[in-house]
Formats: sequence, C-alpha cells, structure tokens
Amino acid sequence: MTDSPISTAKHHDILVVTSNNPPVNALGAAVRQGLVAAIEQAEGDDSIKAVVIRCEGQTFFAGADITEFGKPPVMPWLPSVVDTIENCSKPVVAAIHGTALGGGLEVALGCHYRVAVPSAKLGVPEVKLGLLPGAGGTQRLPRVAGVPKALEMVTGGGMVGAKEAHDLGLVDRIVEGDLVQHAVAYAEEVKDIRPLPKSSERQEKVSNIDPSVFADFRKANARKFRGFEAPEANIKAIEAAVAKPYAEGVIDERNLFMGLMTGVQSRAQQYFFFAERKASKIDGIPEDTRPRDIRRVGVIGAGTMGGGISMNFLSAGIPVTIVEMAQEALDRGTGIMRKNYEATAAKGRMTGEQVEAAMGALNPTLDFNALADCDLIIEAVFEQMEVKKDIFARLDAIAKPGAILASNTSYLNIDEIAAVTKRPQDVVGLHFFSPANIMKLLEVVRGAKTAPDVLVTAMQLAKRIKKVAVVAGVCHGFIGNRMLMPRQVEATKLLLEGTTPEQVDRVHVEFGMPMGPFQMADLAGVDIGWHRDPTRIENIRDALAAEGRWGQKKQAGFYDYDDKRKPSPSPRVQEIIDDFAAKQGVTRREISDEEIIQRTLYTMVNEGAKILEEGMAQRASDIDVVWVYGYGWPVYRGGPMFWADTEGLQKIVDGLKSQEARMGEDFSFSQLLLDKAAEGGKFSGK
Ligand code: 3HC
Repeated sequence: MTDSPISTAKHHDILVVTSNNPPVNALGAAVRQGLVAAIEQAEGDDSIKAVVIRCEGQTFFAGADITEFGKPPVMPWLPSVVDTIENCSKPVVAAIHGTALGGGLEVALGCHYRVAVPSAKLGVPEVKLGLLPGAGGTQRLPRVAGVPKALEMVTGGGMVGAKEAHDLGLVDRIVEGDLVQHAVAYAEEVKDIRPLPKSSERQEKVSNIDPSVFADFRKANARKFRGFEAPEANIKAIEAAVAKPYAEGVIDERNLFMGLMTGVQSRAQQYFFFAERKASKIDGIPEDTRPRDIRRVGVIGAGTMGGGISMNFLSAGIPVTIVEMAQEALDRGTGIMRKNYEATAAKGRMTGEQVEAAMGALNPTLDFNALADCDLIIEAVFEQMEVKKDIFARLDAIAKPGAILASNTSYLNIDEIAAVTKRPQDVVGLHFFSPANIMKLLEVVRGAKTAPDVLVTAMQLAKRIKKVAVVAGVCHGFIGNRMLMPRQVEATKLLLEGTTPEQVDRVHVEFGMPMGPFQMADLAGVDIGWHRDPTRIENIRDALAAEGRWGQKKQAGFYDYDDKRKPSPSPRVQEIIDDFAAKQGVTRREISDEEIIQRTLYTMVNEGAKILEEGMAQRASDIDVVWVYGYGWPVYRGGPMFWADTEGLQKIVDGLKSQEARMGEDFSFSQLLLDKAAEGGKFSGK
C-alpha cells in the first residue's frame, strides 16, 4: 500500500490508522480502500487489541469526495466502509480534530468511541449539497444524539462544537494536548470492554418518539425549506430511523439519497459549492502576488452602507476610522451600529464584551485627515460622480503611500474615479450589498489600472470578514445590478401591458426568489434613482414616486402596507396603471406566467451572457455566485447561468425570440448566448 493515503503503525497493542489525503481528507476511493484494509489488518493480527483512526493535516475526514459524485462508483462504497469499521471485533476509536463532516462524521459514528480536541467541530452538511448523509448517518446520528438534534443537524447542515458534541454523546471524551497519544491511551482503557458499543444498535433515543415532533419541525421550518427537496428527504430518513429497525432504515436512507443524487437540485448545489470556491481565484495574476497589510480601515460616510461596511471590519477585529461631515450624522450612524450589535447580542450571537470590543475599535470623527493612517479607505457616500471625484482627489492628497482607495459605488465608473488620483493602481471598487453587515456578497471591481496586489488584498480581506468576493469589470451596474436592469425594465413594461405587481412577484417567489421585483422596489424605495420632478412622468414608477408612493417606508408603493408592513394589492396602483396605459394607447391583455419568466428571467440570462462575452465576469459561475449571495437566487437552481443550462439554451433563445417584438429596442441578443445555443453548449462547463 505504498501509494495509499492510509498508513498504519502499531503503538504497542493499538493499531493507529492515519489518513493523509490533503487538503481535507475527503473520503475518496483510495482512502476507503485503505480504511477497509487497515481494519482487515487489525482483525488478522492477534497482537492488536484496538484501533485508532485519525487524520493528518488540517482536519479529520471532511466528507465524501465531492469530485467523485456523478462518476462511476468505485468500490468499496462508503456505507460498507462504515459498516466494516462498526463490525470490527476490536474497539475502534475515532480521534477527531478540525471538522468531522458528512461522511467523516459517519465514519466517526461507525467507530465504537470518539475522542476529540476542544476545537473540533462536527456536522452533516450534506443538505447544503442537496443531499442527505448517505452512509448510515441518518440512522446512526439520531440513535446517538437524539431525534431533535439530529433533525436540526441534518436539515440545517451546521456544525456543533466539541463541548456540545460531548454533551450530546457524539463525543465520548474531550482531550487536550497530543490527540494521538490521548486516543491511544483511551483505546488502552477500553480495549477489553465487550460488547462493543455500536451506534446502529442503540434504540433508547429513537424509541417512544411522538410523531408530532416531525410535524412540528416541518411546520416550524416551512419557510426556510421552501422550494428545497433535500430537507424533506432528510426528515423522512430520520422518521425511518424512528419507525423502522436499523436494517430497514438504511434502505430508506439509500433510496432517498439516490433520489436526491440523481435530481437537478443536488447537481445545482454541488456546482455551487465549487463555484463559490472558484470565485476567489483571479485570472491573469501571478500566483505569488502578496497581499498588502491591512491593519486599519477608513470608511467615509456613516449612513446605512458606511455603518454596515464598518461593522464587518470591527466584527473581524480590524479597527475602523469612520468619517462624516456633521456631528449629528456621525452620532446617528454610530448609534445605529451599536443598536445592531446589541440586537445581535440579544439573540445570543454576541456577548456584551464583544459588542464593547467592536464599538471600542471604532474611531468616529469629523476630521477627514484622520484617514491618513488607514491602509484601506472605503468611500460610501451617495451615488454622484462629482461628489466621489472630489472625495478621491482629497484622499489622494492625504492617504499614505500604498493605501488602497476603494469606492462602494454600485454603478459608477471606477476608472473615471481613479483618474482623479495620481495612484489609479491603488483604486478598486468594493461593492457591498445592503444590509452590508449581513449580505455575504462583495463585488470587487477591477479598474483598468488596479494593481494585482490590490485585488489579491481585496479577495483575502473578503475572507477575513466572511464575505464571498467576486471580481467584476468596469461596466454600468457591474454584474449584479447590471442584470437587474433588464428585469426591472421588462417587469415595469409588463404592468402596462396587462399584468399586476402581484402576478409578477408571485411568479418570482414561486420560482424561489425571496421576493419579486415590485416587492423589492417597495423595500428598497420606489424613489431610488427618481429624477425628483413630479411633473415629469415617463413610466409607472415615476407616477408612483410623484404621488409619494415610495414603498414600505411610506406604507404605500406598488402595494399598500398596514402598520405591520403586511402588503395588500393597491386599488390606487391599479388606477395609476390603467390611466397610464390609456394615455399611452396600450390595450391591456392577459399575460401568462411563462411570458413573465421569459421577459424578466430569460433577459437576465441574456445580460449575463453579454457580461461574459465582454469579459466583465471571469466565468459564468461567478455570475451565479453574485446572484445567489447578492439577490437570493435559489441555490437549488444554481444561479441564473446554471439554470439557463438546465432549461436548455435553445429554449431560452426561442423564448426571447418570441418576445423580441414586444421588448423592442430595450432588448438585443447576446452573440455568445446565440452561439452557445446553436452549438448545443453550456455556460456552466466553463
Ligand atoms: N470533497 C472534495 N473536495 C473538497 C471537499 C470534499 N468533501 N471539501 C473541500 N474540498 C476541497 C475544496 O474544493 C477546496 O479545493 P480548492 O483548494 O481546489 O479550491 C479545498 O478542498 C479546500 O476547501 P475550502 O477552501 O472549503 O477550505 P476551508 O478550510 O475553508 O474549509 C471545510 C474546509 C470546512 C472542510 C470545507 O471545505 C467544507 O465544508 N467542505 C465540504 C464538506 C462537506 O460538504 N462534506 C459532505 C460531503 S457529502 C458526503 O459526505 C456524502 C456522504 O454522506 C455519503
């Protein structure tokens, strides 16, 4: 077994089995084969009294090897490896560090005992890949950790720390210091104990379970699980663990697993797992480019965006200098930040000390010159080119050499902003999404002259503040907002032609979006981008804005809102639409849901294809990351470009052609989309 990632070594009468399969000890074929061989070795050697299974490197097994999914299976498969371990006639101890995830936790549950270091984390994240733990995990986990916790873990995919795992019975002992030494000592302690404790044989935690547990769980999580197939399959598998003997439960688990594995949702979610990781890789930059050191961040503007942006850095332990023009605005901004932190603390997600530490690292000031010692300065004032240019010229005069100068603009030309400085190589766009302290997406806008190390710094910093960064080129609206535009334009035109805000929004929500275009407009503010001239009414949006129907904040927008912000269809909006249609001579007609999809979603795919062909996104999967993390595109559809592939690109082209006349000059085809459709190609292959 010279090339095997699994090696064995005897420590007196304990066989220590070590996996060395970087980066995360995924349970690929060679690892599975090696584990079975190691158990056979233990069985065949009378001098061996017990076995320890451990991993080299950063982590215990982090799961099945996802890159093997969809390929022809190589034996032995994981369920039988776990069974082989559990059926070993000698005690097997799992020695856990890092993250025991998915198949990794299933291996650990197949072991008779588990020891872990205090920093270890355990979880079954399969649901995030549209799957369920398919190596006996749905049957063993509730038997060890109990049904409520198992339900939470399999459907949520989160991790539990070593301490909680110990309390749950998932870990038998927490050990500090040398893990192998402790695991071997533990194995010595238990080597003679018989019968061996087997997770699959335990019944006490799956007996006498009131079936209402499942009904209640489904009800409580209905909103969260909406549209996803995997959570329900996971629940069904846990139900089987309760209702059936182990041997039958695992058959249910297998069937449910295969059902998910062959479905589109799981394919989309696996694709997205890799898409997210690919996004941080920047084309055309030397691998050894070193990031700049960021010790203090400056933020200009203490409004909603500036405050939210600052919180990201403060939460990551990076001090922030925040600058405003008036004391009142500064106080209001910092007050909101404190309130947000305190709300997080009230939910138990932060301690009081952490709130104070974060706020203590904030330096609010009216003195622009205080930004001089910042390594990164982010401008977050309102969207006006002249204002931004003025700020960057002032920054150029005071920022220290090598400081990165960033704009949070969501549309404007970074190159034009950079051109007012003598250091365009240090200028970059950092487009945060609102609420900036919560949304995971960060668009990193690469100007024509942005230096490679500035980009590398931005990508690395994004990780530090727990964001997923995507590189975008300079174009109006970058990736996300640029694709939003055709959707918004067509949605508004559809209103005139015959649909209602309710129909358009329903189609989007049924598709899996958190909200539709008009619900989003009401939330963001109908007055955003409005020219503020009530006499100039060019479209329905202008008409609403002119009447003060600015959205939720005015309890009136495309919908009427009650005191609790509950929307209802607005007769006044219908009047406005009818009036407007009459004035324009438009005869309103019945609009089908299909047309709404073609004109508001297919047009987005077309815009995405243009973004790709212009090189404004590095890869189709980056566009998908933007839409899943920035706008709540349902991850079970992979993102707009992956979804287009699953629809079939020719179908997209045909759908767009059928609407081309109605869309008029607002629409033009992407050549890339046409070419790919003609050759039977895909976006997600790239
Ligand atoms: N299979 C194959 N490759 C994997 C992998 C896996 N299970 N998990 C991670 N990788 C790869 C990543 O793609 C990445 O590759 P790259 O360097 O080429 O981009 C590399 O390992 C490092 O991963 P991260 O960048 O994510 O490293 P982090 O240190 O940030 O995170 C981690 C480590 C927490 C282990 C994270 O990678 C993770 O959550 N992995 C997925 C875990 C998972 O989903 N396990 C369940 C698999 S399904 C399963 O087990 C089915 C079974 O029930 C039958």
